[in-house]
Amino acid sequence: MLFNTVIPVLALVAGLADAAGGQGQRKGGGGFQQSSAVAASSVAASSVASVASVASVASVASSAAVATASSTGGNGGGNALALDPNNVQTGSQSTGLDATAEPGQSASLTDDANFINFCTGKTLTNGLQVKGGSCNGIVMGDIPANTKMVSAVMIGPKDGDIVAPSPQNITFSVQIANLQAGSFTNPDDTYYAAPQALSSSGVIIGHTHITVQSLGNSLFPTTPLDPTVFSFFKGINDAGNGNGLLSATLSGGLPPGNYRVCTMTSASNHQPVLMPVAQRGAQDDCARFIVSATNAGTNLFTSNSAAGGNAGNGNAASSAVSEAATSAVAATSAAAAQSTGTATAGNTGNTGKGGRFGGQKGGQRFGRPRKFSAREWVA
Ligand SMILES: *[C@@H]1O[C@H](CO)[C@@H](O)[C@H](O)[C@H]1NC(C)=O
Repeated sequence: MLFNTVIPVLALVAGLADAAGGQGQRKGGGGFQQSSAVAASSVAASSVASVASVASVASVASSAAVATASSTGGNGGGNALALDPNNVQTGSQSTGLDATAEPGQSASLTDDANFINFCTGKTLTNGLQVKGGSCNGIVMGDIPANTKMVSAVMIGPKDGDIVAPSPQNITFSVQIANLQAGSFTNPDDTYYAAPQALSSSGVIIGHTHITVQSLGNSLFPTTPLDPTVFSFFKGINDAGNGNGLLSATLSGGLPPGNYRVCTMTSASNHQPVLMPVAQRGAQDDCARFIVSATNAGTNLFTSNSAAGGNAGNGNAASSAVSEAATSAVAATSAAAAQSTGTATAGNTGNTGKGGRFGGQKGGQRFGRPRKFSAREWVA
């Protein structure tokens, strides 16, 4: 895979960061937070509470009243606060540790009434982004067919793009399939407050977000990033170009450094999109990019990248980086990376992924008019 084959680039990147980004990066830790840090709450809100709390199914009506008092959806039947027997999911009544179970599988929690009182005695999410964690009793909702699963790919910045630093704006663009974009509810008081819903064509109605984090001194850190710390976060509240291309502009850009941009695609009420099957490709995408005045506008992985020097012509056994780095047999020494600027010998590198990254669209990143607004606030 790509990142296993670009070790020379790593050294190059480190060099870039040292030369141009070290100071700026540190500076950016505080100065470039574009919005308040609530990103972590979605994780906490979805955490499963203790088993003990599931036990009581009694007093359905009274407890349900607490959880659904403000619901207008109703559950059918004679009592809007009661579970319609037709909606009981018997699949929730067994632990799953039956004949089909594989060794090591965990027992599922069980409930005879769809866990409608799962949150009894706990802090209810209640439409809020509860930083300390909470329990959400809202049903998951409509799930698309497996032919309508969300799939995203970052268009820009792409992996290996070198982007000009502040004050240059950065526009993040993602192409998303199977999302009716542009729908988002008030994140202040309807967070996770309604189920996922589908459009008439069967795709999830929702929106996506762009989240950017500093990777520190390495483009490929091995320590997971702190999700409460991010350099940029923006929800995209429009439908983009109507064909799944969504964009958000970071006004003023970023200080030099190594970054990861990811999409986080959500239903209207901000819950991560739910898919019909477990075994699938990811719904979101990430890309690692560099902010540097040096070689801005080029890409580490393309043959015309100034960062790669002439390395695109180098064969894999030589000291080339660029395209060669994206072939499976790229040189792996740091020395190789340091010599990329002058590497010219050897056979033409395998275009491999370099070809994929080679950007017919890359040139549009800074040139395309940005007519799409994106909200500044989080979620
Ligand atoms: C940067 O983005 C802001 C907000 O989108 C815009 O007003 C400004 O004109 C942009 N600056 C440049 C140089 O494109």
